[in-house]
Amino acid sequence: MDNIILIGFMGCGKTSVGMRLAERLAFRFSDTDRIIEEGCKKSISSIFAEEGEEFFRKLETNTIKGLIGRLTDTVLSVGGGLPVKEENAGLLRQLGQVVYLKASRETIRKRLAGDTTRPLLSGEQAEEKTDALLKFRTPIYEAAAHITVTTDGRKFDDIIDEIIRRTGVNP
Ligand code: S3P
Repeated sequence: MDNIILIGFMGCGKTSVGMRLAERLAFRFSDTDRIIEEGCKKSISSIFAEEGEEFFRKLETNTIKGLIGRLTDTVLSVGGGLPVKEENAGLLRQLGQVVYLKASRETIRKRLAGDTTRPLLSGEQAEEKTDALLKFRTPIYEAAAHITVTTDGRKFDDIIDEIIRRTGVNP
């Protein structure tokens, strides 16, 4: 089955790497956050604010369940919190080869500075929240992934070459 599933913390580069990787492979690019936003006709921030995180997490699980058996030649980027639910990690592995894009705390902090689109990191002490979540989630991402690829200080082409080589997906 030729799908690549990108997981990793907010700001690790799933969308920017994913779109370029899809282009190189002539695959579709898809993103669970966008699927959810289109389905609800609301932004992720509004969903969190109006329905709460639990509701959003249910939408995430329903979204990937709905993709089982229907996804081909696709690079799918998933929200940073999606693999945390054990059930979801199993579903992702049914969808394709799961690639963890690993970025350092410093890179992530830099990329997320001033961001207003991620409800989990809004308000006071965003950096402390980032650190705590990152520490908690890192082993979960590692266990959920078939492959871990580090992204710090690397050019997109270099990261993409490694993903193509290690997944064996044919361009
Ligand atoms: C979240 C990550 C976000 C989005 C939501 C929650 C998380 O996606 O799903 O804000 O829990 O890490 P990105 O990882 O694409 O930013």
